[in-house]
Amino acid sequence: MKEYRVGVVGATGMVGQRFVSLLENHPWFHLVAVAASPRSAGKTYEEAVGSRWAMPTPMPEAAKKLVVLNAADVEAVASQVDFVFCAVDMKKDEIRALEEAYARAECPVVSNNSANRFTPDVPMVVPEINADHLEIIPAQRRRLGTKRGFIAVKSNCSLQSYVPAMHPLMEEFCVTKALVCTYQAISGAGKTFATWPEMVDNCIPYIGGEEEKSEQEPLKLWGHIEGDRIVSATSPAITAQCLRIPVSDGHMAAVFLSFANKPTKEQILEKWAKFAGPAQELNLPSAPKQFLHYFEEADRPQTRLDRDTEKGMAVCIGRLREDTQYDYKFVCLSHNTLRGAAGGGVLLAELLAAKGYFD
Ligand SMILES: NC(=O)c1ccc[n+]([C@@H]2O[C@H](COP(=O)([O-])OP(=O)(O)OC[C@H]3O[C@@H](n4cnc5c(N)ncnc54)[C@H](OP(=O)(O)O)[C@@H]3O)[C@@H](O)[C@H]2O)c1
Repeated sequence: MKEYRVGVVGATGMVGQRFVSLLENHPWFHLVAVAASPRSAGKTYEEAVGSRWAMPTPMPEAAKKLVVLNAADVEAVASQVDFVFCAVDMKKDEIRALEEAYARAECPVVSNNSANRFTPDVPMVVPEINADHLEIIPAQRRRLGTKRGFIAVKSNCSLQSYVPAMHPLMEEFCVTKALVCTYQAISGAGKTFATWPEMVDNCIPYIGGEEEKSEQEPLKLWGHIEGDRIVSATSPAITAQCLRIPVSDGHMAAVFLSFANKPTKEQILEKWAKFAGPAQELNLPSAPKQFLHYFEEADRPQTRLDRDTEKGMAVCIGRLREDTQYDYKFVCLSHNTLRGAAGGGVLLAELLAAKGYFD
């Protein structure tokens, strides 16, 4: 595989730091540029991040010396790289403008931001679930007037546990409705216990905008291309409650499902065990070998024990049993800044590279 020069826009933030860590020693992607706000621009990456470094591994040596660029200097960044990852904390309309400016500068953008998730010709992709949505990119390039440039996004971190668990059950058994309660880690807000001490011994029953994303984004993932747009699916009906809990990393979800054709427990377990998608078939470097891991133990998956399964790229499921109101209930867990953010972004970029979208 060809090597690609990569930039991270928002490199100093929580998700940006994950990108910088994951790109150390990546077989295809070589980090050559980091960009952030004017507050960080002009400093070395090491100076700009300082005590904010929140990763479990040390800052990569090669990244320390990179001079942080101003993300708004699009040409300066775009001229050095083959594509950028983008994870910034800005207003939605500003993010939309920034991502489009990079795409128009012929620099593809793989984004973790929510701003473009519902732009009709922007693919929102989980590589195991809807890789075919990348086929909308030529239509987006026609709108933007670009040859190489485009925007592709990954979905919200909250749904990265339950959508993969539901997906293999959709076609044969037809999920009609889902009720989901998520228990989300503080790194999902870009925070640690040091920067958010109010979260110690606490639970906050509100995460702005999260319930709408958790209910609506799955329907775009299960949608289809019609002309120059992606049309969302109209079912299953999903209702969600999202809580912030005192955990550093790892989003848990309690899920209740009803089906048109109710499967047996054994059929569900078989679908989960056998499920693989293009990420596994193409043997992408960041793909988990086994995407869905089912735990038989009654007290698993547990956040601290299981969030790093397959380098934080797998989804862990447990406690599948029949329910009195819905057909089945279970719990699932995914690492929010790995599979749910930067890791999912890197996997999407690997899919784009393997399919030739960066050439
Ligand atoms: N954390 C998660 O688990 C997660 C999961 C999925 C998606 N996301 C999304 O990813 C994005 C980043 O989240 P985060 O948690 O990494 O946030 P964060 O830790 O607050 O980091 C924000 C980043 O944005 C940069 N930034 C802020 N204002 C800017 C400006 N005006 N111009 C250019 N850069 C600017 C910051 O640079 P400075 O350091 O210079 O201020 C920093 O690099 C958000 O859109 C978030 O919704 C996060």
